Amino acid sequence: MNFQWYPGHMTKAKRQMQEDIKLIDLVIELVDARIPQSSRNPDIDELGRNKFRLILMNKADLADKRRTDEWSSFFKNKGYFVVSLDARSKVGMKTITDQIMESCREKIERDRKRGIKNRPVRAMVVGIPNVGKSTFINSYAGKACAKTGNKPGVTKGKQWIRLSKDVELLDTPGILWPKFEDQMVGLRLALIGSIKDEILNTDELAVELIRFLRASYPGILAERYEIEEEGAESELLMRIAENRKCIGKGGELDYSKAAALLIEEFRSGKLGRITLERPEMA
Ligand code: G4P
Repeated sequence: MNFQWYPGHMTKAKRQMQEDIKLIDLVIELVDARIPQSSRNPDIDELGRNKFRLILMNKADLADKRRTDEWSSFFKNKGYFVVSLDARSKVGMKTITDQIMESCREKIERDRKRGIKNRPVRAMVVGIPNVGKSTFINSYAGKACAKTGNKPGVTKGKQWIRLSKDVELLDTPGILWPKFEDQMVGLRLALIGSIKDEILNTDELAVELIRFLRASYPGILAERYEIEEEGAESELLMRIAENRKCIGKGGELDYSKAAALLIEEFRSGKLGRITLERPEMA
């Protein structure tokens, strides 16, 4: 499967982030809880060197709770502060402020020793497109001060959002780009919908999803589509087409329609809470 990205955007985004990162104490990195590793760009560790670090595992409402806990421990063991959340709801935002303060405790102590008072922690949100950066900024800041949308880079202009007397947030999230060198990473990003659908082969993607699901979440397909899980992946897709009456113009079963339906149901959580990768793979 071939994936494309746009080097022009990448270079510009990276340069911008290098500038912005000089202004802050804390990097708040959003990842997608369904693929906590593949939705990161490891370059952030270099870009965010010497900064305090907080990882938000977003879209946790769509991820497998057990795996989210495993990933949380994994990142904590590496020295990051971690919170899992659903950025669309305001639940858990208080925990984030606590974690921000906790992660920057060293700076706060240092300021206090130097007699510096009331200097807020400055933070910026970073992450690959579509992980929920704008949604999070909106929820956290409590008002529509950052536009949300599917297009990366919709938020323009630099401003600080004063969240409390202790925390200021850069209103523009830093955009990282996913890393595609590993085919599996590309595949997982495609499955969660992080890569534009036009450049993907949906049939192939659905086959890969079936392969993964019956190995890691046996019974899910059987239950939802009332089908046997044995046989070739393509056969399962035909059974899904039958079950969901995906019929082409000539009255034949429409394989591609079933593929699109399966992927949509996975992305929207209708198949249940599913995580595509485990810390052991990292
Ligand atoms: P970005 O700035 O990182 O590019 O992402 P953005 O906030 O635009 O969010 C991308 C999509 O993800 C949005 O959906 C948003 O609603 C959704 N989203 C963000 N956080 C969460 C979360 O915690 N859980 C779930 N389930 N979804 C989340 P959209 O399809 O673009 O728009 P809409 O469905 O909100 O209309």
